[in-house]
Amino acid sequence: MSLSRITITAVRNLQPVTLSPSPRINILHGANGSGKTSVLEAVHLLGLARSFRSARLQPVIHYDQPSCTVFGQVQLGEGSVANLGIFRDRQGELQIRIDGQNVRSAAQLADLLPLQLINPDSFRLLEGAPKIRRQFLDWGVFHVEHRFLRAWQRLQKALRQRNSWLRHGTLDTVSQAAWDRELCSASEEIDSYRRAYIQALKPVFERTLAELLQLNGLTLSYYRGWDKDRALSEVLAASLPRDQQLGHTQAGPQRADLRLRLAGHNAAEILSRGQQKLVVCALRIAQGHLVNERKRGQCIYLVDDLPSELDEQHRRALCRLLEELHCQVFITCVDYELLREGWHKDTPVAMFHVEHGRITQTQDHRE
Ligand SMILES: Nc1ncnc2c1ncn2[C@@H]1O[C@H](COP(=O)(O)OP(=O)(O)OP(=O)(O)O)[C@@H](O)[C@H]1O
Ligand SMILES: [Mg+2]
Repeated sequence: MSLSRITITAVRNLQPVTLSPSPRINILHGANGSGKTSVLEAVHLLGLARSFRSARLQPVIHYDQPSCTVFGQVQLGEGSVANLGIFRDRQGELQIRIDGQNVRSAAQLADLLPLQLINPDSFRLLEGAPKIRRQFLDWGVFHVEHRFLRAWQRLQKALRQRNSWLRHGTLDTVSQAAWDRELCSASEEIDSYRRAYIQALKPVFERTLAELLQLNGLTLSYYRGWDKDRALSEVLAASLPRDQQLGHTQAGPQRADLRLRLAGHNAAEILSRGQQKLVVCALRIAQGHLVNERKRGQCIYLVDDLPSELDEQHRRALCRLLEELHCQVFITCVDYELLREGWHKDTPVAMFHVEHGRITQTQDHRE
């Protein structure tokens, strides 16, 4: 899928604007502070109903305005189109509209507009808390396995029940046993989807990484959140006294993680910043390939400040891989000379110059 039109109002410093992006490569260039990242924020808002910089939405709304809106027309393939709209105000009110109907869950947006973000914070996927890697993993599982969301909702509900019981001890033992069975069944289901996904992702990731970087011996493995040789019910029973002491459940899929290791070390500890960026790009591009294979349509890439940390050879290799995905890509950069050349002649490339919040299209992909 791709965005054929996007209308942005009162997002950060951007002047109200309607853009007709290329279905493939879009380059936004301009000086520091001109508003390039803000355009990616607007697309992110449309796909996830939240900002990528902060959990709070306040900073996304233009200082002088009470609210911001983003509308997008999404091409779903075979001529069908979806119209998405996001409205957010300073009081925290959020409205999500799909084809004129109000919807309550951002999961529906995510389903229509699968987004992959690569930005200067991306190294956190390697260095940061396990939660970031779980989000990465679950993004992929959500988009290739439609039963995942239901299992995940069941898990959340059963976990809430168990944690509340651990803290307050107010549930009778029969009901608690029933909730524990529900917890274990949802956990096994989630684990099976995640495991199958990682198995499919690994070879694609390794192939993609090999095209970006000579890095022999990097391994990607999955930890399910509890002992691989024991049933979760057994682990929960054994850890009950400690869980009660802490007031929450320690083992389970809510503790899953991905591990990237190189020469016996956590990869994040030994890779350079540029190498980290390329490893993250390989992971995210591999996810895009899996979505392309299994789901109608494709995902959209937001690549903020693509050239940073990368030398010419790696920059070119990354651009080539993004181009070969046949997805819509929004790339920002300060110096557009670095990205102007090198695209295949049949690839539609649109260029946008951003200056003090104003966006002008400088090269039309239809020319
Ligand atoms: N809520 C807001 N209202 C108005 N302006 C804002 C708001 N939040 C941020 N800005 C300003 O918007 C401008 C554009 O920021 P943005 O991050 O999009 O720039 P950029 O073009 O990506 O710059 P860089 O090349 O440095 O990454 C900045 O000058 C910033 O101070
Ligand atoms: Mg920026």
